[in-house]
Amino acid sequence: MTLETAKELLAKYHQEHVLQYYDTLSDKEKAALLEQIEQTDFSVTEQITAGKGEQARGVITPIQAMTLSEISENAENFTETGLEAIRAGKVAAVLLAGGMGTRLGSDNPKGMYDIGITKPVYIFERIIRNLFDVVDQAGTWIHMFVMTSDKNHEATTSFFEQQKYFGYNPEYIHFFRQEMAPAATYEGRVYMESKSRIATSPNGNGGWFASLKRAGLLSLIHDAGIEWLNVFAVDNVLQRIADPCFIGATLSRKCKVGAKVVRKADPDEKVGVMCLEDGRPSIVEYYEQTEQLRNTRNADGEPAYNFGVILNYLFHEKSLEEICDTALPLHVVEKKIPYMNEAGEFIKPEEPNGCKFESLILDMIHLLDTCLPYEVVREKEFAPVKNKTGIDSVESARALLQQNGYTL
Ligand code: UTP
Repeated sequence: MTLETAKELLAKYHQEHVLQYYDTLSDKEKAALLEQIEQTDFSVTEQITAGKGEQARGVITPIQAMTLSEISENAENFTETGLEAIRAGKVAAVLLAGGMGTRLGSDNPKGMYDIGITKPVYIFERIIRNLFDVVDQAGTWIHMFVMTSDKNHEATTSFFEQQKYFGYNPEYIHFFRQEMAPAATYEGRVYMESKSRIATSPNGNGGWFASLKRAGLLSLIHDAGIEWLNVFAVDNVLQRIADPCFIGATLSRKCKVGAKVVRKADPDEKVGVMCLEDGRPSIVEYYEQTEQLRNTRNADGEPAYNFGVILNYLFHEKSLEEICDTALPLHVVEKKIPYMNEAGEFIKPEEPNGCKFESLILDMIHLLDTCLPYEVVREKEFAPVKNKTGIDSVESARALLQQNGYTL
């Protein structure tokens, strides 16, 4: 891109400040900045003024979940069906580890966080150990795809190498990078992280399948005969990955996606709940849940919207190929964004200071026409590490791990 075209593009989106230091840069820096400008989608910043990127919702009605009692009645059958699929190589795992984990506040990728007390217990290590449980049970390796971002790719891959993949077979671990998006002030003015670089952040976890495809990994998926992808978050240290019973249940109900859910701890818990929206599976985020929705009861007198998602989904791969060109809504998320101030100093803010633009995996559910919400026991499968202390923190995750018999 030439300087002239860059100026025109920036003017269109009121981002002229990006070139403020251009004349002071080396030739290499100039070229890099022009290239970054060319690759950046500045139109996302208009979402801030266009109503925070939230879309109008359709008609919301309850969805039937498969509850613990139904699961336990069929556990043997489901588990056998799931193990068969795993042994046939039809199931792979996808670890979403591209996030910045700003709430935890560590400079390293979240998976490198040591939640041990008397010995090191890294989050990545816990994930691999959980996967090993099923690998041992099924007697076969399971492919795992790991999504990183430009911000943590090197650190993540070197850590796995350094830790010798925690004993896992490296031939079955595949890293790929997600896309980045600019980060902006509340007024939509993109932040600079240096004189020659626009501040960027990973573009949310909704683009994972598109990024996997862009990385050329679909050929591996096709060649290996993988039909199901179990996608999960890096920060739930108790979760079951490639859980045979969950896989068997989703396959038996012939759904295109299964979603692990937990019963809400209380009506105000900040968790997205499963529902039908205009007759299709969907998720209502906690901030969209009205008083009326929270108080609606089903025929048994139970809360009708009572099952919260924990970011553990089993997707039918071919169905994802069909929907992957459909654009997902863009969410404007308030975050702490490191930036260069007017004085040219690099600042790492203590409090949120602007917006990032993210597409979310939960919006993919609505693009598929069948979903099985599958209930799991919260205390056994849900220990998210979002914060240092308090709710969903290192402290609460440690307590839950110990409660489940893990030595930390
Ligand atoms: P979170 O919503 O907790 O976001 O991610 P985060 O960016 O990691 O953390 P905070 O909000 O800054 O504290 C849920 C899951 O989605 C992944 C995360 O790595 C985590 O596994 N994720 C999130 C991505 O892979 N890419 C993203 O762009 C965002």
